[in-house]
Amino acid sequence: MRLNEYYDVALDLVKQAGAIIREKINRPKDVSLKSCDVDLVTESDKEVEKLFMGGISSRYPDHRFIGEETTASGAKAQLTDAPTWVIDPIDGTMNFVHGLPHTCISVALLVDKVTEMGFVYNPVIEQLFTARRGQGAFLNGKPIKVSGERELGKTLLMAEMGTSRNAEKMKAVMENLQILVPKVHGIRTLGSAALNMCMVAMGGADANFEFGVHVWDFAAGDLIVREAGGVVIDPADGPLDLMSGRVLCASSMEVAKEIAKLLVQYYPERD
Ligand code: IPD
Ligand code: CA
Repeated sequence: MRLNEYYDVALDLVKQAGAIIREKINRPKDVSLKSCDVDLVTESDKEVEKLFMGGISSRYPDHRFIGEETTASGAKAQLTDAPTWVIDPIDGTMNFVHGLPHTCISVALLVDKVTEMGFVYNPVIEQLFTARRGQGAFLNGKPIKVSGERELGKTLLMAEMGTSRNAEKMKAVMENLQILVPKVHGIRTLGSAALNMCMVAMGGADANFEFGVHVWDFAAGDLIVREAGGVVIDPADGPLDLMSGRVLCASSMEVAKEIAKLLVQYYPERD
């Protein structure tokens, strides 16, 4: 397996993709709706996904892809044992549309369904998070570690409202905020599932959960958090399932389990 070579090729493509995001974020955009009126896509999302997939396919024609925008246009998200690139071309599309500088490209490579590498790159404020399985996690080339916080009462929690207007989902979001706000240090919302997880990886926040995410939102973040010494589990306190649409990560298992115990659970459609 030529993982070192794949890493170099992917890193180069991630940087090229980042240059597009950086250049386009403050320009007028062509915005369309996907599943509902807050689920947005722009021409740049499609351009970045095409650039990444084209760059990999031309070198490795047998590699497979699960990309947010190709899936939105009808492709089936299928995870097999083949080398599979899981791509969110712009995570935090709503932020990108508004010009809020918390937006990124998120890419993971899975082989035999095991995540081998992950990249989350915010090119607007130059935050490049990278990880390789068993080799640690890095921010702009420097090693990062989770905070190690073990007390829920001192936890800074990243949480999202999500990009769905589903009534049952919204109810769970609101109930979980009501339950957790009085129990943690604070709650923050960055508007990008991938960046939320990277905040936990770098020790800037202590936990993050979300229901209704997709594999492309959290596959890279999952590896980056684990390689930074954190834990990533299912929000009902079970093993993480990348296709389940559910994720909970934390700086320690103690905090993860306490949050899991408190959460009102929501089970979205699987990827
Ligand atoms: C969304 C963002 C958002 C999260 C949603 C994601 P997108 O991805 O990560 O923060 O709450 O669940 O779908 O649409 O910006 O790629
Ligand atoms: Ca996304």
